[in-house]
Amino acid sequence: MKLVAKPAVYNLKTNDTAVIFLSEEHDNELDNQIIPDLSFIKKRADLSSFKGKSSEVMFIPLKSFPNIIIIGLGKEDKITKEALRENASVVVSVCKKRNIPKVHIVLPVIKDVDELDVLSGIAEGLSLSNYAFDKYKSSKDEDEVSMKKIQEAWFYCVKTDEAAKVLKEIEIVSENTNLCKDLINESSEVSNPVAIARLAKKFTKIKGITCRVYGKSDIEKLKMGLLLAVSKGSTYPPQLVVLKYNGNPKSKKKIAVVGKGITYDSGGMNLKPSASIEDMRSDMAGAASCLYAVRVAAQLKLKKNIIAVIPLCENMLSNKSYRAGDVFTAYNGKNVEVGNTDAEGRLILADAVAYTEKVLKPDYIVDIATLTGACLICFGEIIAALLSNNDALADMIFNSGEATGEKVWRLPLDKDYEELIKSDIADVKNTGQGRNAGTIVGATFIKKFIKDVAWAHIDIAGTSWFSKARGYKPKYATGYGVRLFIELFKMIDN
Ligand code: BES
Ligand code: ZN
Ligand code: ZN
Repeated sequence: MKLVAKPAVYNLKTNDTAVIFLSEEHDNELDNQIIPDLSFIKKRADLSSFKGKSSEVMFIPLKSFPNIIIIGLGKEDKITKEALRENASVVVSVCKKRNIPKVHIVLPVIKDVDELDVLSGIAEGLSLSNYAFDKYKSSKDEDEVSMKKIQEAWFYCVKTDEAAKVLKEIEIVSENTNLCKDLINESSEVSNPVAIARLAKKFTKIKGITCRVYGKSDIEKLKMGLLLAVSKGSTYPPQLVVLKYNGNPKSKKKIAVVGKGITYDSGGMNLKPSASIEDMRSDMAGAASCLYAVRVAAQLKLKKNIIAVIPLCENMLSNKSYRAGDVFTAYNGKNVEVGNTDAEGRLILADAVAYTEKVLKPDYIVDIATLTGACLICFGEIIAALLSNNDALADMIFNSGEATGEKVWRLPLDKDYEELIKSDIADVKNTGQGRNAGTIVGATFIKKFIKDVAWAHIDIAGTSWFSKARGYKPKYATGYGVRLFIELFKMIDN
């Protein structure tokens, strides 16, 4: 969607659609709206029944005047940026239903919230919710309302120069977040390990990005025994993508993000049952968020050095599959007993983080993964689990979550949990005991492959994939992580 900043003085045409946002205290607010052209609303429309409750909506079609969409924002002193994103998504649902391709947004004046924050909240909510994965819908039926997206949104505001900059950035971030959703929603036959590696290579067209893809024989030479083991049952070879954006060549500092890229998780020999398997094409959501976070960083020309390390493969069931009870040797030489072939994410991440720390030597490693069903049990689809060996890094990730609405909550990583992953026959086992502390056990396993770099692990089993739409986040892939990472990159000093 094109986002355009316009000065407050203009002429709305009669077939335009204007959007105004009103809080519960809207009586006096209507006079505060910066555009005199809308004075007709007071005369023509009866707003007495409009309460201004959050997500309340009123569509007013008018003859010889622009059409009006009015959206409630709730109590004025409770209006946050996240509330603005949520309420902006209501505009999109009205426009989709009524096939309105272009909207004229009048920014509300909100006490104690800067105009540019109001602008960015609304613009982000609009562009992120203006999304549908509809490429496999062949009918162009009138009822297929999801196909009609808003093409353009104009924002009337005072600070137009600064607003144009903000909108450009939001366009880049939202477009990439939406592309990230596409990659995750795609069939796993299409978003397969080789195709995703090829996509990463294409990102090198953007200035500052370089990419190296390691194929199966390279991975064998690197001795990544865990990534090789997990990939054994698949017809696709494993891939390891190292995508770099060098935005600050003068600095030696760098941050690495490592994303779980299981393009389909059948569970392998420990095959998943029917109800748990259908959505497992989303098991590369961590990988997708890393890829697109790097793309955004480069397009925004952030002065930061960022590396994405992405192990990609399928976890399939075949006569070549790796087996529970067997032992494989990781990149760092540790021998790992496979307690369950469905705990595959931690295996490929173990090889990837050990390689990242040893060879790429970043200042921080943040891995992101759809790692455990236990995370979904604990936090539902609302908040991601965060585990870290470094308080400063954990705090920055927490603050990024609060700023973007991609929330995290920290769980402990006490050394005492290590007893759960002891193996009788090898150095470590990839499963714990029973179902206890599942998310912590997953993180504790990965921790064993970190030496002394500042590291954090984000479990997005719940937040990356929604069973229903919520506000500006759609059903299925949410693109969780792209905006969280961009905020974190900005925060990190390098
Ligand atoms: N990809 C799954 C985790 C998952 C579950 C993601 C539900 C999204 C929704 C992961 O590979 C897995 O299967 N984990 C097992 C680990 C267990 C065998 C120790 C799990 O959580 O059940
Ligand atoms: Zn699994
Ligand atoms: Zn998995």
